[in-house]
Amino acid sequence: MNYAENILQTIGNTPLVKLNTITRDIDALVLAKVETFNPGNSVKDRMAVKMVEDAEADGRLKPGGTIIEGTSGNTGMGLALAAIVKGYKLICVISDKQSQEKIDILRAVGAEVVVCPTNVEPDDPRSYYSVSKRLSTEIPNSWYVNQYDNLSNTLAHYEQTGPEIWEQTEGKVDHFVVGVGTGGTISGVGKFLKEKNPNVKIWGIDTYGSVFKKYHETGEFDENEIYPYITEGIGEDILPENVDFKIIDGFTKVTDKDAAIYTRKLAREEGVFCGNSAGAAVKGLLQLKEHFKPGEVVVVLFHDSGTRYVGKMFNDDWMRDRGFLEQDIKTASDLVAHAEKDLITVRTEELVAHAIERMKQYDISQLPVVDTEGFAGSLDESTLFKAYIDNKDLAHLAVREIMQSPFPIVKKGTSLDEVSRMINRENKAVLVDLEDGSYRIITKHDIISAI
Ligand SMILES: Cc1ncc(COP(=O)(O)O)c(C=O)c1O
Repeated sequence: MNYAENILQTIGNTPLVKLNTITRDIDALVLAKVETFNPGNSVKDRMAVKMVEDAEADGRLKPGGTIIEGTSGNTGMGLALAAIVKGYKLICVISDKQSQEKIDILRAVGAEVVVCPTNVEPDDPRSYYSVSKRLSTEIPNSWYVNQYDNLSNTLAHYEQTGPEIWEQTEGKVDHFVVGVGTGGTISGVGKFLKEKNPNVKIWGIDTYGSVFKKYHETGEFDENEIYPYITEGIGEDILPENVDFKIIDGFTKVTDKDAAIYTRKLAREEGVFCGNSAGAAVKGLLQLKEHFKPGEVVVVLFHDSGTRYVGKMFNDDWMRDRGFLEQDIKTASDLVAHAEKDLITVRTEELVAHAIERMKQYDISQLPVVDTEGFAGSLDESTLFKAYIDNKDLAHLAVREIMQSPFPIVKKGTSLDEVSRMINRENKAVLVDLEDGSYRIITKHDIISAI
């Protein structure tokens, strides 16, 4: 009989799959190492087990102990599988930027999950780096994994992923392209491949908001490069020990929007349903294409599965909210196509206090004013502010007493250009007649969002 002794034995030996369509502009052969085939659905199973086994071997992790890690999900999944098979407790400390699916999956495999805020400095006591460290000092018989600086991470890829790529390509690999987070994958695979053939080029995919690219190019850790970003799994605001900058030949940065769009393209054009960093890797690969010559072999590694991003990059509303959907917005009706159903209004005889309350409730800065005949006027923040300077009892006046002229009404097909020119200091918004008895509002904010 041919069976694995336990789930950990099914880790590795993932397939190498030719990309056919999405890479049509590249002359080289592009092969994807699809790490979704691991039991935890990510490359991280490999290093998670290696870190646990190395810690067991030198006594950092003792029988019945608690494993603690600050993880964005995938390493947590790998650690969870190891903890189940080997009999440990696992606490995962995760940042609130991560998808709900990742959190639910960790809980499904028995991990305790602690959620921390994303937008705090790494040395802030609330950051997930700090919380993980603190828990490991407070909980007896616990071990803090620290995938960033734990070199067993790199070693796992040096011992497994690198040799697999070398064997699968029969030593013909010329370039290796991969997203960089802790650096374990790029450094382990890169070291192995360069030892086999020093001419192999190693390319890192970074994201805007991360320090890697600039540090690699200039040696400067520039804090100005650090700001919040959406892409998951890659980029850092620290320099993890696992990133071996010497073996990396170059970095390219991919925007959040491109990473998201290419994550979807990969699924639709190749049937390869992988995560957000795979989309970034494909776009990065296209950005690097002048380095790839005809006949060369390029291997790109896809870290995890698309299932963990169904509420994000694979969700149209999520993409639209961030302006990531390629939409052709040419007319007034295109602009309001996904606006909330009902137009929020205030009546001429209502008190100003009601109008202000409604603006707060719906988080809007202007309101059309209506009476029984239709649109009778308009209110916006600057009208309110000016009126308040003249009359501190403004809240008790009727809206009719301070309102301005009604917002102009345009037809559905009015061009965006024309609508933009109608919005000015006097006129804070335009109403679109949808010709079914309903209207929508367009403000400066809507036009800026469509840029
Ligand atoms: C989805 C995803 N992509 C990419 C990476 C980066 O890999 P590495 O940490 O080996 O650099 C990670 C690591 O957390 C990840 O979870």
